[in-house]
Amino acid sequence: MIQKPKGTYDIFGKKATKILYIRKLITALMDKYNYKYFQTPIFEASELFHRGVGETTDIVSKETYDFKDRGNRNLTLRPEGTAGLVRCFIENKLYVEAMPLKAWYFGSMFRYERPQSGRNREFTQFGVEAFGSNDPMLDAEVISIIVNLFKMVGLKGIKVNINSLGDIESRMNYRQALLEYFKPYINDLCEDCQTRYEKNPLRILDCKVDGKKEIMQNAPKMADYLNEASKEHYAKVKEYLTAMNIEYVENTQLVRGLDYYTHTVFEVEADIKGFGSQNVLGAGGRYNNLVETVGGPATCGVGFAIGLERFLLALEAEKIEITEEEDLDVYIFAMDEAQKPYVISIANTLRLNGFNVDVDYVSRNLKNNFKHADRLKTKFVIIIGDEEVSSKILTVKNNQTKEEYKIKLEELIHFLDSKIGDE
Ligand code: HAM
Repeated sequence: MIQKPKGTYDIFGKKATKILYIRKLITALMDKYNYKYFQTPIFEASELFHRGVGETTDIVSKETYDFKDRGNRNLTLRPEGTAGLVRCFIENKLYVEAMPLKAWYFGSMFRYERPQSGRNREFTQFGVEAFGSNDPMLDAEVISIIVNLFKMVGLKGIKVNINSLGDIESRMNYRQALLEYFKPYINDLCEDCQTRYEKNPLRILDCKVDGKKEIMQNAPKMADYLNEASKEHYAKVKEYLTAMNIEYVENTQLVRGLDYYTHTVFEVEADIKGFGSQNVLGAGGRYNNLVETVGGPATCGVGFAIGLERFLLALEAEKIEITEEEDLDVYIFAMDEAQKPYVISIANTLRLNGFNVDVDYVSRNLKNNFKHADRLKTKFVIIIGDEEVSSKILTVKNNQTKEEYKIKLEELIHFLDSKIGDE
């Protein structure tokens, strides 16, 4: 039997209902914040991610799904959404519009990682990107979106970690300090960190292997290398978070696994007992040089992405039921084959008039049809026999009270409206 590829999954049943429900919540939330929906390609030119996400990141160096198409182009399944949004922003010259441009997206991302609970090779992100303003209020706004989304569904066990990586000048000074600090310890570092030392020493702090070593704990702290402008930006972000009563923890070791960040970085983790090691539910930060790096005009940006699968795991861990089951308004069945055109025509009219309708497609007997109507949590059952067709008077049964009504065909919509229309 052909099985799904490792690290991917099928979504159906309760999980599908939950994802649709969360998407609905997100759509409504994004209207409240005035973010506009964007959809960019699932695959892009490989070069975009090399330039955008960064050559030295684990994502680009080890985890991308790269392929050549039949025209010999180098393409990559997107491992994240920011680079694609930046490309879209530049290619469509969206920078000529009034800034900030506030975008949101929702879709599959692909990373060749070792699958485990909360870590997949295909996963879904909800993300936002806001371009064209360096106002720290926008950093605080995007953090508030994650916090408020979790609050809306009643998720309590979350912890917001923040840090500042400063501007380019601060980053360069810090980089120099790290190079000097780690020089005597080079041989104590893992192989990856030895490469990072050469290419991007900041990422040593993010190492999963060396992370807990004493030399890491004693490494210079970014906060001591922030210049005045960076300190001020960071102080304002914290002031605005406090103004919104958003609790946060300052974590000086937080550097993030992508190269494009400047100033604010943040991770929102699940703070729930027994939650697995993949506990970062959503993360992001400011990226004031990325648009230029990808080939556009100098434009600031800030955003985040949430992993939907981890969001669902957190809901399960806190035993939060988020979906109300959609009941079926009407179930229709025919007594025999000859009445089927009538069944499908009534179903069609009712659906056009806003009712949720299903019909019998497997010619069940009367008893089994009622059983099936119960299974579908049906409110009204319509039975069509010869008599109903010839008289144009329908037998409509309230499936909860078992009351039976005889309703003229032309009065059916009015009848159903009066019974279930404004529930
Ligand atoms: P990221 O930290 O790589 O950031 O991913 C964001 C979120 O996606 C993670 O916190 C996690 O919930 C989810 N995620 C990542 N990898 C996996 C995986 N293999 N399986 C399941 N879930 C996963 C970014 O992607 C940035 N583009 C975020 C951003 C937007 N920064 C600024 N704007």
